[in-house]
Amino acid sequence: MKQRGEKISMLTAYDYSMAKIVDQAGIDVILVGDSASNVMAGHETTLPITLDQMIYHAGSVVRAAQRCLVVVDMPFGSYQGNSKEALNSAIRIMKETGGHAVKLEGGKEIAESTQRILTAGIPVMGHLGLTPQSIYKFGTYQVRAKEQEEAERLISDAILLDQYGCFAIVLEKIPASLAEKVAKAVSIPVIGIGAGGGVDGQVLVLHDMLGITQEFHPRFLRRYLNLAEQMKTAVASYVSDVKSRDFPGEKEQY
Ligand code: KIV
Repeated sequence: MKQRGEKISMLTAYDYSMAKIVDQAGIDVILVGDSASNVMAGHETTLPITLDQMIYHAGSVVRAAQRCLVVVDMPFGSYQGNSKEALNSAIRIMKETGGHAVKLEGGKEIAESTQRILTAGIPVMGHLGLTPQSIYKFGTYQVRAKEQEEAERLISDAILLDQYGCFAIVLEKIPASLAEKVAKAVSIPVIGIGAGGGVDGQVLVLHDMLGITQEFHPRFLRRYLNLAEQMKTAVASYVSDVKSRDFPGEKEQY
């Protein structure tokens, strides 16, 4: 698709019902993101989600996906530091979920884990820029790599991931000009979130773009629905119908 100049669409999903709709709507890639930690479980960060929980979410998504590629995030603590453990975690994801690929956050610092997973024939998607598993190192969710030193490190990390054999890279919340430069510097697709239009594809968190999450308003987020309001209206109507004895009606009982 990169070679054809065709943009790649990617969205997150964490459960069977949502994944089925997203797949049927024509998405290219579903990411079973560790943002499930925030969106599904209500944690403040992505750090608490476990490998077992990611496997549960990913298995549900894979059962729904008939046509798209399914990429599964490796959660915090399942791949950093020990490359043997990283490989074991990736193998569990592939065996127990049926997912097609894994995603890891980081560049040179996780080189050994990335390369070891690749040696097992498991496709790896990289993730650079704002990497939420490192939030306590960054201290904020603000735009990354605005300074030259961090920007240069990011470009060399992207080139390394390409050389290792990763099949794609996510770039999160970095200047659009830098993201475009990276997309031109590597042969593999670069998928952006808050990284401008000069990359090869875009990813958003499904619950954000559907307007289910309500308190999150970054500049890069385009909301396609206000589903939280629509759902509240529907639930309020149901409550009212039950209270007023309007529901169930004659034709809604046996
Ligand atoms: O977990 C996630 O949803 C992600 C995307 C923001 C790229 O990693």
